[in-house]
Amino acid sequence: MKIIFSFLAIVLLFISITFASAKEAEEIKEPAEAQEKHEIFNFNKVKVEQFISPELCRDCHSEIFKQWEGSMHSKAFVDPVWRAATKLFNKDVKTEDQILEMKACVKCHTPLGFRSHSITSPDEDYDKLAELPAQGIFCNWCHNISEVKGLGDAHYEVAPGGGEDDPSTMLGPFKDSDSPYHPTKYSELHTKSDFCGLCHNVSHAGNHIPIERTYDEWRNSPYYTGKPETTVNCQDCHMRQRPGVPATGKTKRPDNPGKACDMGPDRPHIWTHYFVGGNAIVTKLLGSETHAQMAVERLQHAADLQILKNISYGKEELSHVRVKVINSGAGHYLPTGLTEVRQMWLDVKITDAKGKVLLRSGEVDMKGNIDKNAVVYHTKLGNEKGEPELNVALADRILYDHRIPPKGYMIESYAFYIPEDAVSPLNIEVSLKYRSASQELARVLLGENAPEIPVINMASVTEKIEVQK
Ligand code: HEC
Ligand code: HEC
Ligand code: HEC
Ligand code: HEC
Ligand code: HEC
Repeated sequence: MKIIFSFLAIVLLFISITFASAKEAEEIKEPAEAQEKHEIFNFNKVKVEQFISPELCRDCHSEIFKQWEGSMHSKAFVDPVWRAATKLFNKDVKTEDQILEMKACVKCHTPLGFRSHSITSPDEDYDKLAELPAQGIFCNWCHNISEVKGLGDAHYEVAPGGGEDDPSTMLGPFKDSDSPYHPTKYSELHTKSDFCGLCHNVSHAGNHIPIERTYDEWRNSPYYTGKPETTVNCQDCHMRQRPGVPATGKTKRPDNPGKACDMGPDRPHIWTHYFVGGNAIVTKLLGSETHAQMAVERLQHAADLQILKNISYGKEELSHVRVKVINSGAGHYLPTGLTEVRQMWLDVKITDAKGKVLLRSGEVDMKGNIDKNAVVYHTKLGNEKGEPELNVALADRILYDHRIPPKGYMIESYAFYIPEDAVSPLNIEVSLKYRSASQELARVLLGENAPEIPVINMASVTEKIEVQK
């Protein structure tokens, strides 16, 4: 961690020259009283002692504990990418809107830290936070979420108990459960996407522009039918996944029979707690190979590719192939979530029978950069000058959104020239690739020693083209 932060310090120095001086930013950054009344602070305050550590839940729910422990939910606050990004962005904020947005960063990534007022902004020292709130989105937090005040941006209330000696009622999917340690209660909310949507729909706290819209994307998709029997919720894909069972829109999503609690009854289905998305790097860095491998399995069952050829191809002609990218597996846009950082792109290569390259697009160079003309599926945020803006706090508009809707597709056209000496047949190779962030951004956030962000091959397809004489 020390190495990470010393590299970060160098980067920050550079950034503070580029933007307004840090001094100027600090002068305006006094925590205004008015801000404490803003809606991001609109919830009942709780105390850390009211909650129970996941280590205690492990005594009886050992399997679920193991799954959760390696997940991004348990790492939401210790995630080095998140830490570096918040510290970096925080240096450049000036207006009240921008400062508010930075305060909101801790709201979802350590909900207990924020709501107990233990940590209210990235200005503070992350390492001072107590052990429990530093465990991000933990068991007792989710299973206490009791009231929805609005979808997205963490508008909900929790109903905590009095700590280990007086545990809260655990809200969950069973109507008939009985625990010797804590009261239990059925909660319809926990069985539906709305529960996930509380955090998986993120707006800028100051100017309200949409930043992450995973819940809305799902709500407007064919996976939501309005009828409980036919709707496919977030849980149906993400809480049915286990190693070897990717559970996506294009695979079976079988029940997972077992026990919810080590000494509890056998049940036909137990919801898993791996909470795997596309992140195959942070989970691995923080110790779970299993979760990293499951992210690869998920990504490899998310999309399909087709090559659409012309009826005929002739020499010395400008020719085209089209590539159809189908979002067959994700219940939301592909990609989703932090789409200004994620990269999904097409790697296309056309060669003649002797291996001569006629077209190449989407190659990654030695430095880890994707070629500039590649088709990349992502979003771009912009600032008040209309320029691309990496710092979400400074962003006030969406410049660009090129992604694939759930059960939808996009067709990309590639043009190439077939020279006189080309040897028939031509080979077309197309792959769809994903990585959690560009290598360049990884270097900005984690320093020159940043790990290589793995490039995951989501799907591949090949075709041959016969060329007319
Ligand atoms: C991100 C929120 C979240 C976190 C964190 C979380 N759970 Fe859950 N848990 C759920 C949801 C949602 C369900 C029910 C899913 C459904 O019915 O569709 C559930 C179900 C359960 C169940 C019922 C059995 C089952 O899995 O079907 C138990 C027991 C449980 N969780 C215990 C735990 C424990 C112990 C931890 C920590 C190690 C934990 N949960 C962490 C959201 C969470
Ligand atoms: C309303 C809840 C919420 C708020 C507020 C929030 N986040 Fe997040 N954040 C999320 C969710 C949900 C994800 C997971 C999405 C994904 O993986 O694509 C996430 C993921 C991230 C990641 C990706 C981490 C990784 O390892 O790839 C970064 C970086 C991040 N957030 C930074 C921020 C910053 C900076 C702020 C404040 C400006 C912030 N977040 C505020 C909910 C929130
Ligand atoms: C002494 C053992 C024990 C401990 C410790 C324990 N539980 Fe449980 N829990 C159980 C049993 C037994 C059940 C019922 C299992 C069943 O019916 O299949 C249960 C059920 C649950 C359910 C399902 C509730 C429902 O009705 O859907 C949740 C959620 C839950 N526990 C969460 C937790 C959390 C969070 C912790 C830690 C704060 C925890 N439990 C600690 C034994 C325990
Ligand atoms: C209390 C807020 C909260 C709730 C409720 C919540 N999440 Fe999350 N979730 C987060 C945050 C914050 C992150 C990002 C952690 C990071 O990347 O640093 C995250 C990350 C994830 C990831 C990992 C993404 C990746 O890039 O690999 C998945 C998958 C996920 N959540 C699914 C769910 C599902 C499904 C539900 C509902 C059952 C849910 N979450 C409920 C806050 C929440
Ligand atoms: C039909 C199955 C399906 C449903 C329903 C579904 N997802 Fe996903 N999800 C996927 C697949 C497949 C991926 C991997 C591809 C990707 O990253 O988009 C994924 C990825 C993710 C990621 C990681 C995105 C990234 O690249 O950082 C998050 C976060 C997430 N889902 C949250 C949710 C939430 C929240 C819901 C409900 C509102 C939901 N998912 C509903 C299949 C599903």
